[in-house]
Amino acid sequence: MTQKKHTVRTIQAMRDKGETITMLTAYDYPTAKQINDAGIDMILVGDSCAMVVHGHPNTLTATMDMMVLHCGSVARACDRTMVVADMPFGSFQYSIEDTMKNAARFVTEAKVDAVKFEATPNHIEKTKAIVEMGIAVVGHVGLHPQAVGALGGLTAQGKTVDTARKVVTEALALQDAGAFAIIFEAVPAELSAYVTQKLAIPTISIGGGPGCSGQLLVTPDVLGMFDAFTPSFAKKYQDFNGLMKQTFAQYRDEVKQGVFPADEHCYQMSAEVMAAIKAEFGQVA
Ligand code: KIV
Repeated sequence: MTQKKHTVRTIQAMRDKGETITMLTAYDYPTAKQINDAGIDMILVGDSCAMVVHGHPNTLTATMDMMVLHCGSVARACDRTMVVADMPFGSFQYSIEDTMKNAARFVTEAKVDAVKFEATPNHIEKTKAIVEMGIAVVGHVGLHPQAVGALGGLTAQGKTVDTARKVVTEALALQDAGAFAIIFEAVPAELSAYVTQKLAIPTISIGGGPGCSGQLLVTPDVLGMFDAFTPSFAKKYQDFNGLMKQTFAQYRDEVKQGVFPADEHCYQMSAEVMAAIKAEFGQVA
């Protein structure tokens, strides 16, 4: 890909001309490199990393240090794809100053292009403050996985008048606060399509249906690498777990049977050097 790196302006231009924006999650350099080279427009370094990489039961255990480390690896792989850092639980819930400092760490230490957080109406001022610092912000409405405890599970949002109103008002408030895009997670397709029409900025669906300006999936779901929890909106394109299992079993068998390593996997030395070593240290049985 020779195309230049995406910015808030190129992402907005895609939305304006009706070109669907593509987005995937990534947490490490090699995966991000493939996503970048495949021409995916945006990467979210999601706090889902706590679950799909670190094996925790939910996203609440992601920390700033963990996220900055993963974001740096991803950002180094991307010369085209825009990289968005997900602000973990506890990094934006306290003061505006704390939120600004944590957002700044993602830009200065990890060199990401934007930050995203699960902003409720209480966090709109923080969105404004980060945008005023000059950092691009992605909003996130609908299901907030960091609220799993209060919600009692990872369930779809916006199916009742009250929760649908919440989705609409939060999206409008985020746009007013300066967010350049908004993720719609686990929201009825008709509601996301309606809000997408009302907004002037791009909407990105993860379980928000086809009416959004873009689509996002969690990469380990796409690759078939994570089966502890698969939401109904995810599509599994490959069976990497199956492939890994088969590959590791073949490696185990080849090592046990002496098939690996073969000659081509070994360094060679001259007969003279070996003879000199045996002369000095003696023969073996
Ligand atoms: O952490 C994540 O991957 C996310 C998406 C599910 C939106 O926040």
